[in-house]
Amino acid sequence: MGFTEKQEALVNSSWEAFKTNIPKHSVLFYTSILEKAPAAQNLFSFLANGVDPNNPNLTAHAEKLFALTRDSAGQLRAKGVVVADAALGAVHAQKGVTDPQFAVVKEALLKTIKEAVGDKWSDELSNAWETAYDALAIAIKKAFA
Ligand code: HEM
Repeated sequence: MGFTEKQEALVNSSWEAFKTNIPKHSVLFYTSILEKAPAAQNLFSFLANGVDPNNPNLTAHAEKLFALTRDSAGQLRAKGVVVADAALGAVHAQKGVTDPQFAVVKEALLKTIKEAVGDKWSDELSNAWETAYDALAIAIKKAFA
């Protein structure tokens, strides 16, 4: 079955919850990444001085990543497929991003959304974000090639 209107609505409403406090949610997101993959501190330029919510590059990057995942939900619903632009593929190819790293970022993203939505969290909501993220990750990796 394709990505449903309900799944898209779940992703959109939780994206709104994420946006209510981007610095706070960004801190949780990068802290979760670093817990699982400490070496990521050397990968992201804006983590050089740790997870600082006042660093605009850090919050801008988190916002872009969550926004692109949300857009992917829209693409899945409208066209059944996600396309990433070549520039996005190129950044990740250049950084040599691996599948285990995509998994770490996915886990951190879900943990962050869970905190952002509070008692609205559900398996259905989690699955909708996972599906959108997985499709985007595949699209980014295709754009590397
Ligand atoms: C679906 C998943 C992902 C999305 C949507 C995404 C999105 C982005 C975007 C939009 C940029 C460019 C930022 C800019 O132009 O300012 C970027 C850069 C970058 N991404 Fe990703 N990314 C994803 C997964 C990953 C993963 C798994 C890693 C590795 C842990 C990673 C590592 C990086 C790094 C190191 C940069 C350069 C950041 C810097 O130092 O300025 N990304 N990503």
